[in-house]
Amino acid sequence: MTKIIALFNQSGGVGKTTLTMNLGYHLVLNKNRVLLIDIDPQASLTTFMGIDSEELEQTIYESVVGEEPLPIIQQINGLDLVPANINLSAAELELVSSLMREVRLKNALNSVVDNYDFILIDCPPSLGILTVLSLVAATHVLVPIQTQFKSFQGTDLLLNTVARLRKAANRNLEIAGFIPTMFDSRTAQETRTYNAIKDQLSPLATVYQPIPRSIVFPDASEKRVPLALHQSRHPAVDVMKKIVKKLEQL
Ligand SMILES: Nc1ncnc2c1ncn2[C@@H]1O[C@H](COP(=O)(O)OP(=O)(O)O)[C@@H](O)[C@H]1O
Ligand SMILES: [Mg+2]
Repeated sequence: MTKIIALFNQSGGVGKTTLTMNLGYHLVLNKNRVLLIDIDPQASLTTFMGIDSEELEQTIYESVVGEEPLPIIQQINGLDLVPANINLSAAELELVSSLMREVRLKNALNSVVDNYDFILIDCPPSLGILTVLSLVAATHVLVPIQTQFKSFQGTDLLLNTVARLRKAANRNLEIAGFIPTMFDSRTAQETRTYNAIKDQLSPLATVYQPIPRSIVFPDASEKRVPLALHQSRHPAVDVMKKIVKKLEQL
């Protein structure tokens, strides 16, 4: 069974895209066949993967709006990618009156799902239709949470959204867990938030080891490579390896 994991948090800048690319890369190193899907109009994942999104003629947009086959760019550092670009920002409005719009991504995935062990969906930072499409297509939702009090406060809304979606459209959607991100253990406030995340969320699903905050992440994305190809010995690489081991056991 292919695991289709949506990386979801309605807040921006919490590390969704960075994790999508890096967890995907470590899944590939463990011999999994992995497809990444960029469904954020900001197209950060496409950019992080080294693709110039403005040059693209076919993106996820044509698949969800025009119901065309997914345009898959193959084997970027071992990863396959369905890219996005800014055109996708129109999809929200264009899909308003479409019939059965919620299943557009699920349907598009049907014909490729058997080719992969993991499909990771990088959701936009919103609760709009593109997020709904993603959560309907997914078997699991994985939630990065920044270890900042303000970010943690949004968790109730996030969990409500997942619960409502389960009820309405995807009964089998499972929470794969919560990944605390950008954690600086020297900061008292962040340590308190991390502890609150562990206390309050671990009854619901796995709370993974936190991803440390480090400049190496923006540095690696500027170079358009996963962290492990930029600084293979950085401690965060080990953290991601451990998370991937658990994802393989889902
Ligand atoms: N652990 C981290 N430490 C420091 N910076 C990070 C970390 N993870 C991501 N970043 C940086 O933070 C910014 C936002 O991350 P991104 O993955 O794009 O978040 P999102 O997809 O949730 O908007 C990017 O510039 C990224 O390089
Ligand atoms: Mg992003």
